[in-house]
Amino acid sequence: MVPALERVVVRAPGKINLSLMVGDVDARGYHSLATVFQAVDLYETVTATRARTLSLEVTSEVPGDLPLDGRNLALQAAELLRAECALDVGAALHIHKQVPIAGGMGGGSADAAATLVALDRLWGTGLGNEQLRELGARLGADIPFAMLGHTALGRGNGTDLTTVLTHGEWTWLLAVPGGHLSTPEVFQKFDEISLATGRVLPEQPELDERQLQALSGANLELLADTLHNDLQVAAFALHPGLELVVESAERLGAPAALVSGSGPTIAVLVEDEVQARSIAAGLMRDGLVENCLVARGSAPGASVLEES
Ligand code: C5P
Repeated sequence: MVPALERVVVRAPGKINLSLMVGDVDARGYHSLATVFQAVDLYETVTATRARTLSLEVTSEVPGDLPLDGRNLALQAAELLRAECALDVGAALHIHKQVPIAGGMGGGSADAAATLVALDRLWGTGLGNEQLRELGARLGADIPFAMLGHTALGRGNGTDLTTVLTHGEWTWLLAVPGGHLSTPEVFQKFDEISLATGRVLPEQPELDERQLQALSGANLELLADTLHNDLQVAAFALHPGLELVVESAERLGAPAALVSGSGPTIAVLVEDEVQARSIAAGLMRDGLVENCLVARGSAPGASVLEES
């Protein structure tokens, strides 16, 4: 145990998947993955203040609702840490959101990651990064990455992480089409489509190695060529209109666009912010999306902003 604090502020980034290769399901019903995560500079900021009981408040720069009860990942993270360390303490949690809600960008995972890091300091449990990542992995496959940040290769269920060398910065237009998709439903649809088309899923899927070269060599054209999401076909099947957003972004000049994670946010790779704004204007004008955000990757993982 280390000395406890009164107030801790931690922020954690949202992510996109530059590759998402999906393999077979394991005994727990989780699919094996080979994925490349990239953290972007849209952050969830969690302020944790000492209190007798656990409570949660949310403010948001993005539209949409999220549960404030036991289904909320930040509250689940707090309960898990409290139980794991057998503590009888509370905290008032405030989350300020910048990551699109239920959009496939890991916003809920970032909330949980930031909460674990903040409460570890607030409560003085001193677990450290590795144990916190292990706790996070029990709650959700994207939580360990929100702690690590930058660009990383994820294997296993996406929780077995290795940092990837990158050069330069990448600019993304995040096109938010409205509506949301449930991750388990997208994986289920993916399984249905694989079965119907006779696709045999590998035990451990492989990445396109050229993507790692593109990232280390700051090669935008090669990165555009290698962006791939196996879940995209399932997201298209469940969300009418999504395919048109990808097609339109590319027609408007984007080097490439793809569904982010399980969707429905579309990550559009762009040359720069000027191109991002012009494509965003086109997508908004055609009524294809509700909202557009510009973000840069990679961004750091969960980090403490203030503590007292
Ligand atoms: O871990 P997370 O909360 O992101 O996962 C939500 C659901 O997505 C899981 O319950 C599972 O149905 C599906 N999933 C999967 N394989 C993964 C990650 C998630 O099938 N590697």
